[in-house]
Amino acid sequence: MLSNPRDLFLRLLGEQLWVERTLAFEVLPKLLLAVEAEGLHAALSEHLEQTKEQATRLEAVFRAAGAEPSSNLSPPAERLAQHHDEVAEQIPNRRLADVWHATAAATTEHMELAAYDALLALAGALDLPRDELERSRREEAEALERVEAELRKLAS
Ligand SMILES: [Fe+2]
Repeated sequence: MLSNPRDLFLRLLGEQLWVERTLAFEVLPKLLLAVEAEGLHAALSEHLEQTKEQATRLEAVFRAAGAEPSSNLSPPAERLAQHHDEVAEQIPNRRLADVWHATAAATTEHMELAAYDALLALAGALDLPRDELERSRREEAEALERVEAELRKLAS
């Protein structure tokens, strides 16, 4: 049962920790093997390094909230990755496949931005430090911009 804002904060924090770890250690390394376009590859590989740091930052946020870091499966993120793979299999053209990879990356960033916005709002209400969350949110916003720019290039 999640009976107060702190419970919800920790639950969302655990889901975002699952998202960052899964992106850092499964999804992004696999995606980088599939992406052909140089610009998109560079953007995603830089974001992979940031994502590892984002996972570490979330662990620190857990401790700042007086809890041990623990991750919870995020069903929407898991489904998004499955959907990416299902559609990618149906695109034989490499450039078009890159458009799809960029689309999936942008969709993930939007989802992550929403998660960080909720975490920041709850952290504010709970009087918890927000710096680490703000830093990761900024990185997600920058990654989104870069991926969207590559998407526009690839689709044109
Ligand atoms: Fe992230």
